[in-house]
Amino acid sequence: MEIDVTNEKKKAIDFIVNSSSLSELIKTETELLGRNGLINSLLKQLKNIIPEKRKTVGININALKQEVITLINQKKQLLSQKIDDKNIDVTMPGTSIKTGTLHPITIAITEISSIFSKLGFIRMSYPEVEWEYLAFDTLNMPKTHPARDDFETTFVNGEPHPTYGKMILTPHTSSGQIREMWRLKKPPIRMINIGKCYRPNWDATHTPMFHQFEGLCVDTDINITHLKGALDYFAKEYFGENTQTRLRPHHFQFTEPSFEVDISCTMCQGTGILRQSRDSGTSQDDLKVKCKICKSGWLELGGTGMVHPNVLISGGIDPIKYSGWAFGFGIERVIMMKYGVDDIRNYYSGDMRFLSQF
Ligand code: PHE
Repeated sequence: MEIDVTNEKKKAIDFIVNSSSLSELIKTETELLGRNGLINSLLKQLKNIIPEKRKTVGININALKQEVITLINQKKQLLSQKIDDKNIDVTMPGTSIKTGTLHPITIAITEISSIFSKLGFIRMSYPEVEWEYLAFDTLNMPKTHPARDDFETTFVNGEPHPTYGKMILTPHTSSGQIREMWRLKKPPIRMINIGKCYRPNWDATHTPMFHQFEGLCVDTDINITHLKGALDYFAKEYFGENTQTRLRPHHFQFTEPSFEVDISCTMCQGTGILRQSRDSGTSQDDLKVKCKICKSGWLELGGTGMVHPNVLISGGIDPIKYSGWAFGFGIERVIMMKYGVDDIRNYYSGDMRFLSQF
């Protein structure tokens, strides 16, 4: 008897090529290499071949076997790479794509704008490079005021304006009050101005560039209760519903009366005590741990007050007919208070371990 190995090889290759899915290929593999498969049946027939030819045919069958094994393995690899509805594994976990996160300052700006928009405040943005006149003079700050000294304010090289004086980097967002009064010309005004501020300080709670949000409300019959109400609303919305606010007398040139606003500490809920151990036998008083964030239960939010009549006049608004309130708070500061961040420089470190937590 004769065995046509070349013809058998053609058949085997056809089988492999025509297997178009992994399951089909596995069936082909059994048909070719299985116990009752093509190769084994060829080997079994060897004994019927005349002895002189048996050796060569045997060698050819074994070579065919090796070739079939190689081809099947190659095809297996090819099919498992190919994704079609026949070999897709729907239970396999997906490849996760690393997404970026918004910067905490951006998140806070969005939150703050949205809280004040519910009170009817519009979001404004005023120049980062400002005239001295708008940042100081119109805000009732005399020429001799210490904040105007170049130790506190960054002056920009350039031609001074004949009326508005030198160019500076905004040391606070309060010049936005005047710009908004100039823009609208007439109350009602409800504005939130968010911008970058510059002061030459660098430590755990100050960076030379930081952000402020400035609120301004001017209308007929506006008084301190409206201010307190708006601050309470903001504090509860931003820091949590149990947050309390208090006003402490202070001084600003552009408000009268002026206050500093405190909120009850977000870490110890205004108690001044952070943690009490319950499972020790000693007296409770001994176990009280002073809150490291606030020390006395209150955290300082920033400055506020009733807009000074001279400021309304600078803005072209009649202080007899209208009154208003304003505040200016630091954004980095409110985030620190909300999350208990202890070093402001983290915001600008570019350290993803810090930034991606927000
Ligand atoms: N401009 C003040 C500051 O930067 C904050 C402030 C704004 C105070 C508005 C009162 C009213 O500290």
